[in-house]
Amino acid sequence: MTATYEYETHDYDVVVVGAGGAGLRATLGMAEQGLRTACVSKVFPTRSHTVAAQGGIAASLSNMGPDHWQWHMYDTVKGSDWLGDTDAMEYLAREAPKAVYELEHYGVPFSRTEEGKIYQRPFGGHTTEFGEGPAVQRTCAAADRTGHAILHTLYGQSLKNNAEFYIEYFAIDLIMSDDGVCTGVVCWKLDDGTMHVFNAKMVVLATGGYGRAYFSATSAHTCTGDGGGMVARAGLPLQDMEFVQFHPTGIYGSGCLITEGARGEGGYLTNSEGERFMERYAPQYKDLAPRDYVSRSMTMEIREGRGVGEHGDHIHLNLSHLPAEALAERLPGISESAKIFAGVDVTKEPIPVLPTVHYNMGGIPTNYWGEVLNPTAENPNQVVPGLMAVGEAGCASVHGANRLGSNSLIDLVVFGRAAAIRAGQVVDREAAIPATNKASVDKAFDRFDFYRNAKGAIPTADLRLEMQRTMQSDAAVFRESKTLAEGVEKMTAIAAKITDLKVTDRSLVWNSDLMETLELTNLMPNALATIVGAEARHESRGAHAHEDYAERDDENWRVHTISRVEDNKVELSYRPVITDPLSTEAEGGIELKRIAPKARTF
Ligand code: FUM
Repeated sequence: MTATYEYETHDYDVVVVGAGGAGLRATLGMAEQGLRTACVSKVFPTRSHTVAAQGGIAASLSNMGPDHWQWHMYDTVKGSDWLGDTDAMEYLAREAPKAVYELEHYGVPFSRTEEGKIYQRPFGGHTTEFGEGPAVQRTCAAADRTGHAILHTLYGQSLKNNAEFYIEYFAIDLIMSDDGVCTGVVCWKLDDGTMHVFNAKMVVLATGGYGRAYFSATSAHTCTGDGGGMVARAGLPLQDMEFVQFHPTGIYGSGCLITEGARGEGGYLTNSEGERFMERYAPQYKDLAPRDYVSRSMTMEIREGRGVGEHGDHIHLNLSHLPAEALAERLPGISESAKIFAGVDVTKEPIPVLPTVHYNMGGIPTNYWGEVLNPTAENPNQVVPGLMAVGEAGCASVHGANRLGSNSLIDLVVFGRAAAIRAGQVVDREAAIPATNKASVDKAFDRFDFYRNAKGAIPTADLRLEMQRTMQSDAAVFRESKTLAEGVEKMTAIAAKITDLKVTDRSLVWNSDLMETLELTNLMPNALATIVGAEARHESRGAHAHEDYAERDDENWRVHTISRVEDNKVELSYRPVITDPLSTEAEGGIELKRIAPKARTF
């Protein structure tokens, strides 16, 4: 039966879904070129999760010492454990300085050096001399509130350039034409319950990650993988979902983020014996090794009985040796968070921390222009017309199996900007806006109506908790065949219960029960793809540490996992990693031998 909902129609050249760093950078770039651009967001733009990004944005500006984009590219390749696509990683590292200077000119209030240059701090895995030299100061910072500063600036600039914002509109589903072109998105306006159909020549998904598939995450409660959910329902795939980053320093208990910038400014981790144990695991870069390395080392210390606290189940982050003025100037936000969420005065006591889910390396597969891919055996790089994905929602793939800290903010702006450049080339301004595919809209309303009237047995919060606990225990920092297989079985059963949900509020205005239910229907395919992809990958690479397959296996597994989720079943296939850079050495590119796979030590 087709549910009947009246709706208002809006026509644009481009509709961007999501108003975090990537969504706003794309929106701004589109609007600057005169494309009629709408940005639809379920939260007020400056409350998007980018606001929580603390430590900074990576770019080889060389403000604090020598640096090169080739060094940045090398670190990103090695950080990704050789799973990133080489063309995209080159694009990121090359374009990063330009993208940061643009932000500066738009008005981002970066912290400054004595000479007035943008201040840069060290972050994990960022080095000099292709990993042979000391750590580099590459992470451009606005104190420890960099994401906040970027978000406010990009929102203001987007308004100045006449982008139109639809705030507190929840995207229900994509509108797809019968021949597989994306032509718009169906939305529900949360504050008055009206329905809206946006027709567009290009839809850009910038909906963020799905950290809330896990029990303990630094991600906001809004990080529910809405783009991935919509894409899966449109019959399109997700990529590399098994790679989930645990940030070493989530506050024990609350999961609230303590920036890696804390270690960049000189902080260090200790175990119950007061030992700076990272010196044993990563003799060269110690506490500034990449996150997968540090999170595994912390977990090993805890497992071997050297955790701190009453239950020996966490680690200490020490900052009290740093000058109080440096803490106040460079790390004011985390000093406050430590006080509020751990009751700790950082000038006197260590912060109790634990590896906490922070970032999804996987997402909607794209090329480095942000165009969504629907790989086939014949054409692994086949583009879906009318659809782009950027930011954490997308998988370009620059982070491969593990992302370097501060490469997320730069990913948002470089690829948000790239999507705008590409849209400027492919969107035909003179062409008519695509007509609404009524059947696709009806399908979206039917699904919406089903959950609005859901009279099953399980409250949404209960099913969400089951999913979160299962993902937390069975797709964790360390994984093994037995628990992964059990996890797949449990998650398949949990996902099957989605049709037995109970929604008690039938209204359309500010119905948070229904919104959280729709969010859960988005989280579920993301979670399923994660655990099924992890179970199938018989090697260890980056954030996927498999105890039964402890080594990286380039011969069999240097491939992207492609997962299609339909009716709670995940079908896996694999897509080759792009190993060719954009430019040759003769054109000023990186020497190929530099980025050939090798053992990853720090
Ligand atoms: O630690 C942090 O400040 C987080 C940064 C990031 O995830 O890139």
